[in-house]
Amino acid sequence: MSSVTLFAAAQLRGIVDVPGDKSISHRAVIFNAVASGSARITNFLTGADCLSTIACIRALGVDVTQDEDEVHVYGVGLQGLREPSDVLDCGNSGTTLRLLAGLLAGMPIFTVLTGDASLRSRPQRRIVEPLRSLGAQIDGRQAGDRAPLAVRGTAIRGGSYHLPVASAQVKSALLLAGLGGSGPLTLTGRIDSRDHTERMLTAMGLELEITPEQITLHPPTHPVLPYPLSLRVPGDPSSAAFWWVAAAIHPNAELTTPGVCLNPTRTGALDVLRAMGAQIEITNQRSEGSEPVGDVTVRSSVLRGTEIAGDLIPRLIDEIPILAVAAACAEGETVVRDAQELRAKETDRIATVAEGLRALGGHVEPTSDGMKIVGLGGPALRGAQVQSHHDHRLAMAWAVAALIATGETTIADPDSAAVSYPGFWETLTMVQHAP
Ligand code: S3P
Repeated sequence: MSSVTLFAAAQLRGIVDVPGDKSISHRAVIFNAVASGSARITNFLTGADCLSTIACIRALGVDVTQDEDEVHVYGVGLQGLREPSDVLDCGNSGTTLRLLAGLLAGMPIFTVLTGDASLRSRPQRRIVEPLRSLGAQIDGRQAGDRAPLAVRGTAIRGGSYHLPVASAQVKSALLLAGLGGSGPLTLTGRIDSRDHTERMLTAMGLELEITPEQITLHPPTHPVLPYPLSLRVPGDPSSAAFWWVAAAIHPNAELTTPGVCLNPTRTGALDVLRAMGAQIEITNQRSEGSEPVGDVTVRSSVLRGTEIAGDLIPRLIDEIPILAVAAACAEGETVVRDAQELRAKETDRIATVAEGLRALGGHVEPTSDGMKIVGLGGPALRGAQVQSHHDHRLAMAWAVAALIATGETTIADPDSAAVSYPGFWETLTMVQHAP
């Protein structure tokens, strides 16, 4: 489909089972690949990004079976990965490329990691430099800052690294390299990004010392993660956020997303929506595997502008496109600061969010590290032709805007939503027609 045309919805109702979390799905396959024994993963995200991870792990000689959202991984330990006969194609997925670069840095094999045009344009120095400081031999275009990246596996040292940006991909790449290290690895600095890697490695029997200031990983005594980790992947809060905002900005709405991951490193969007005045109810809070989960219900709300900055940013970085739609429908000004990381995502999301929201009649001013949005005082966007630039989260953010916009909204490349949310368009229809 090259475009989709949408109109305002009379109402939004229903229970939306969002797909499994993208970050946890990637990690479940990668970590179990180097564990001893087999793991069963259910509610696995079958989006294109996580399928890229499965394809790469298979190319490394690991047996992975997939039947819809149930995946089995037959771990081969840290020394069992085989040199692939071709380059590893990570598609659109930064998580696949960066986590695998870290894991493969210490393996006795040669690999080349590449991806689509968007991924090949994203910065990689952020992993290449710290991995090199631990002894890794990695090269790539632009002195190692752009994929394809060539990884010549070698002995990795322990040591320490101060993380200058809050990036879970960088943190995880280093921890994975550290698994095969000759001594403990300590990370300091911005370790406050999503912590799924730390939670899952701990559940798999690894020794991690974690304080607010630092993380120290002790490599396993045997070259294997001691226990495989079978799990049900919780719902992805980054996918649920589209429905939360849709319900909050629509005048006749109530949507529930059950079983969503409520890990505090991922719930910044809920905090922001609450601060904006959204009616949010969280019930049935429980633990699933190593993650807290709960059911989130959001109802039609009157929103006011807010500030999104500082420590909040890593807790909602992927939700900024959809929060910008909420801000455009609020009363007053919303300021996003300290979010320069947006420029390194699937697209430069400061530029692409501003462009799309403006086309829809929003008042947005991009800044070097974020944007200022002057709300329209209600759901007053107007339909337009908008680009997704092959960025899944933009395609979905504009679809939510279309639900309250006047006239018709045409979104280019809607299929890109399948990178993280297969079934998004069907669910969009379903919530408009639920009884
Ligand atoms: C992810 C980390 C984040 C996020 C991405 C998934 C992960 O990126 O934007 O969608 O699974 O580790 P950064 O680590 O670059 O901030």
